[in-house]
Order: sequence, then C-alpha cells, then structure tokens
Amino acid sequence: FLHKLVLGIETSCDDTAAAVVDETGNVLGEAIHSQTEVHLKTGGIIPPVAQQLHRENIHRIVHEALTASRISPSELSAVATTIKPGLALSLGIGLSFSLQLVDQFKKPFIPIHHMEAHALTIRLTNHVEFPFLVLLISGGHCLLALVQGVSDFLLLGKSLDIAPGDMLDKIARRLSLIKHPEYSTMNGGKAIEHLAKQGNKLYFDLKPPMQRAKNCDFSFSGLQNIVDKIIMQKEKEEGIEMGQILSSAADIAAAVQHTAACHIAKRTHRALLFCQQRGLLSQTNAVLVASGGVASNLYIRKALEIVANATQCTLLCPPPRLCTDNGIMIAWNGIERLRAGLGILHNTEGIRYEPK
Ligand code: KG4
Ligand code: ZN
Repeated sequence: FLHKLVLGIETSCDDTAAAVVDETGNVLGEAIHSQTEVHLKTGGIIPPVAQQLHRENIHRIVHEALTASRISPSELSAVATTIKPGLALSLGIGLSFSLQLVDQFKKPFIPIHHMEAHALTIRLTNHVEFPFLVLLISGGHCLLALVQGVSDFLLLGKSLDIAPGDMLDKIARRLSLIKHPEYSTMNGGKAIEHLAKQGNKLYFDLKPPMQRAKNCDFSFSGLQNIVDKIIMQKEKEEGIEMGQILSSAADIAAAVQHTAACHIAKRTHRALLFCQQRGLLSQTNAVLVASGGVASNLYIRKALEIVANATQCTLLCPPPRLCTDNGIMIAWNGIERLRAGLGILHNTEGIRYEPK
C-alpha cells in the first residue's frame, strides 16, 4: 500500500464508532452505533449503562468498518483511539479493545484527544491551513480555541457550567415538546429551532449572559434558570402546562435561541478580535470553524456569519455527519499525527486502563 491507513475508534460518550481513513482523507469504511434512544428513556446518560452498550457493540462496529473498507487489520499503518476527555467507563472500552488489537497485529497506537479530533475535522473536507479559530458547541462541548498546529491548541474560552445543547435539550424537555408529533422525532435543539420560527423573540426579555466579562468564556445555566422561572410563572398564571399552548412555547423558544445566538456570537467575536489584534490570526482572511450539533442551527449560524463578515473571516462548518461524534474524525486525527510524526506509540505495554 502506498497510502497510510488508520483505523479510528471512538467510545468517549454515547456513540460506539469506527472508521478507516487514508492519507488523502478518503473514508474507506465506517460504522457507528448510537445509544441515544436508550439514554433518552432515562433522561440522561447513566455511565455503567453506556459502558455495557459499548462493550456489546465495539467488536461488531470495528469489524463493520474494516469489512466496508476491504482491508485487513494487518494492512493498517496504525490504530488511533480517543483516550480523553469523556466518560471514564466508556473510554475504557475503546481503549482496551484497541490495545488488544495493536498487540495482536503489532501496530503502532495513536492516543487521540476527542476535542482536538473535532477541531481538525475541517481539514479532512476543506483545504484549511493553520492557524484557524474553532468554535465547538454541542450537547457536551462548548469551547473556543486557536488551532495552531496538529497538536498545538490555545484554549481561549469554555463554558463555566453547561453546554448550549444541554440547555436547549433541558428547555425542550421542560416544554414537553416530545409530546407534539411535529417535534417528537427531533432532538431538543432542533425542536427549539423549528418552534422558534413561529415565536416572537422579543416577547420575553432575556439578557445575554456575561456581558461584562472580559474574556471568551460562556455560561448557559443562568439563562436556563431564568427560562425555567418564566415557564413556572406563566403556568401558575394560566393554570395550564406551557407545552399545551404552542404559541407561548414558541415565544420562549425564539427568545432562548436568540439570546443563546447573541451570547455565542459575542464571545466568538471577542476571540477573533483578540487573535487578530495580537497577530495570531490574519486581519483579512482568517478562518472561523464552527462545529458540534448546535452549530447546525441556522439562526446561530447566521449570527456567526455576521461576526465573520465584521472581522473579514470565512466561516466554515463540517457537514452535519462530521459535526457530531464519529470514528472518521478520530482516524483523520491519526493520519494528521502520522504525517506530523507526533504521539505515535510503538510500545503500549505501559498503558493500562484503570477506571476511576
Ligand atoms: O454534537 P452532538 O450530536 O453531540 C454531542 O453533544 O456531543 O450534539 C447534540 C446536541 C444536542 O444537545 C442537540 O440539542 C443539539 O446538539 N442540536 C441542536 C440542533 N441540532 C442538534 N441545537 C440547536 N439547533 C439544532 N438544529
Ligand atoms: Zn464530541
């Protein structure tokens, strides 16, 4: 084989995913098993349950990705696996499976940082040079980082409490949107986005959080608490669950989406100006990458477009299937590391996974 081939394995949260990617970014095979349905029933992820589901699926998913790619493990250049951050119990399944595989086939092992993999995904689909700014917003992630190299990240801001997707999911649940057939098949964020189209975003006066904080951090739990209080108050006044009056729920959805978009856009604007003023990013053709489930929200994207225009940046977003957790981004990070000669382990004897 002329090309380097990497198998990527991801089990940091609630997706068991694997993929084989080559040096040029071709995806030769991929497979994913999502646990979302199980966790929706319990209203959140229970770590031992997630671990058991990873255990039940990891073998099949890796086998499917390899079979689809028509290569045998002996042809791989390396195995790359997420080792942090994430749920310790979930990470452990991917790691011990990978260590067995590299032992058996005598392959190098590449430990992957989940956030770095998200951040570098754009280089698989677009021609993007370092440095660039990345905004990661999902149900579990919320950060702004300057990406200066394959393994060179400057963290500029993060959420001090919950992630925006987590807030949207909680509000959607509070509004019982799942009970409405139109929204029942959507995740919380998507349901809010659609419902917001029928609402008046100014009906409830919500203030973007952290207006005076001179940094690029985020906060969403205060906003969530205020919205909870508004809903409670309204329900007391009207004697009916707000989820039953879709027009009121729509006003809430529109106000929350608008306020979250303002907050995200303002923090991102600060980060861009900070980097441009210090010569860390170009003043005329910098790249802003937005990724994660929340970045698929078109209202939030529009707000980011405005920020990008104001700073003469180009806004890029990976396609939706690469924005959420997947094996491709892990394999691709492995390729990037192989090419840069970074963090490749030829001896994994010292690595043993120990649950906390
Ligand atoms: O990246 P992702 O699939 O998983 C992780 O959280 O890692 O993101 C899922 C999150 C959920 O919280 C969901 O409500 C949110 O992204 N989301 C959205 C939209 N689609 C998904 N939020 C706002 N607008 C959307 N269209
Ligand atoms: Zn993720």
